[in-house]
Amino acid sequence: MSKHILLTGGTGLIGGKLTEALLNKGHRVSHLSRTPSTHHGVTTFLWDVDKGQIDEACINGVDTIVHLAGANIADGRWTDARKKEIIESRTKSIALVYKLLKAKPQHTVKAVVSASGISYYGDKGDELLTETSAPGTDFLASCCLQWEHAVNMGESLGLRIVKFRTGVVLDANGGALTTLAKPIKLGFGATLGTGKQWMAWIHETDVIDMYLYGIENEQLTGEYNMVAPNPVTNKQLTKAVAKELHKPLWLPKVPSFALQLLLGEMSTVVLSSQKASAQKIEASGFKFKYPTLMWALKEIYAQNDS
Ligand SMILES: NC(=O)c1ccc[n+]([C@@H]2O[C@H](COP(=O)([O-])OP(=O)(O)OC[C@H]3O[C@@H](n4cnc5c(N)ncnc54)[C@H](OP(=O)(O)O)[C@@H]3O)[C@@H](O)[C@H]2O)c1
Repeated sequence: MSKHILLTGGTGLIGGKLTEALLNKGHRVSHLSRTPSTHHGVTTFLWDVDKGQIDEACINGVDTIVHLAGANIADGRWTDARKKEIIESRTKSIALVYKLLKAKPQHTVKAVVSASGISYYGDKGDELLTETSAPGTDFLASCCLQWEHAVNMGESLGLRIVKFRTGVVLDANGGALTTLAKPIKLGFGATLGTGKQWMAWIHETDVIDMYLYGIENEQLTGEYNMVAPNPVTNKQLTKAVAKELHKPLWLPKVPSFALQLLLGEMSTVVLSSQKASAQKIEASGFKFKYPTLMWALKEIYAQNDS
C-alpha cells in the first residue's frame, strides 16, 4: 500500500537514493531540510534545529518518518563545538519533530525509522556484536547512544520505532569506499593500524532495501545491525579493493600512532573494531543482495567501468 514518508536528511548520500527508491515504488515523499530544494516529485519543508523552528505542515498526511539527518562525522576535526553539532543535529532534530507531533495529537504518523551507527558498540576487537551487546564509551558510541535515546522518546507517543545501526556503506559514488580507494588508485594504498580491526560493511543497495523493509514491514521494531553477514578486517577490505582495481599494495601498514597524530580522536573511525552480526535482521526475513564483499565490490566497480 502506498505511504507518505517524511525524510529528515533526505538530501544526503543515503537519503537521495532512498527518495528515488520510495518514489519508484509509488510512495509519496517529503523532505525536512535546512535549505529549499526543487527535487522532482518531492515536497521540501524547512526546519532550523538550533532555533527550534519547523514548518508545521511537514507532518500533514505522513505515515512514516525516516530520520537520517546529522552533521557528517568526517567533515572537519572534532572540536567541542563540532562534537556538539554532530550530536545535536541527530538528537535535537528528532526531539523537535516529536514536539510537533505532541502539539498536533490528530497527526497520522505511525512509525519512525532512524539511522544509528555501528559505532554504538565502540572498539570491541574480535567480539561478535549482536544488538544486545554493550555500548562503547568513546565519542561516537556516546553519540549513537544519545541519538537512539532521543529516537526512543517516540515510543511514549505510541510510535513504532526502528533503529538501524549502520556499518560502513560501500557506494560507487561517495562515502567511505571512495576515500579508501583514492590512495589505492594512486598506488599508495596501505592497511591502517594493525589491519586486524573488523569493518562492518554493507552495500548501498542493501541499505536502501533495508530502509524500505523497515518502512513497509509494520511488524519490525527495535534495533538492528545494518551490516552484511560477512564482516572483514581492514586488511581484507584494503586487499579486496586493490585486487578489484588491479592495483598493487606495496606500502607498509600506516601505524596507529601516525593516524592518531593525523586525525586525533577521529582516528577511532578507522581504527575501531566492530565485528557485527546480521543474524537478527536475517532472522526477521530480510534477504541481502550482496552478502559477500567480493560480490559487492564487483558490482560497484562494474558500475564505474561502464
Ligand atoms: N553513509 C554511511 O556510511 C553511514 C554509516 C553509519 C551511519 N550513517 C548515518 O546515516 C545517516 C545518513 O547518512 P548519509 O551518509 O546519507 O549522510 P549525509 O550524506 O552526510 O547526509 C546527512 C543529511 O543530514 C542533514 N544535515 C547535515 N548537517 C546537519 C545539521 N547540522 N543539522 C540538521 N541536518 C543536517 C543534511 O540535509 P539538509 O542539507 O537537507 O538539511 C544532509 O543531507 C546519517 O545520520 C549518518 O550518520 C551513515
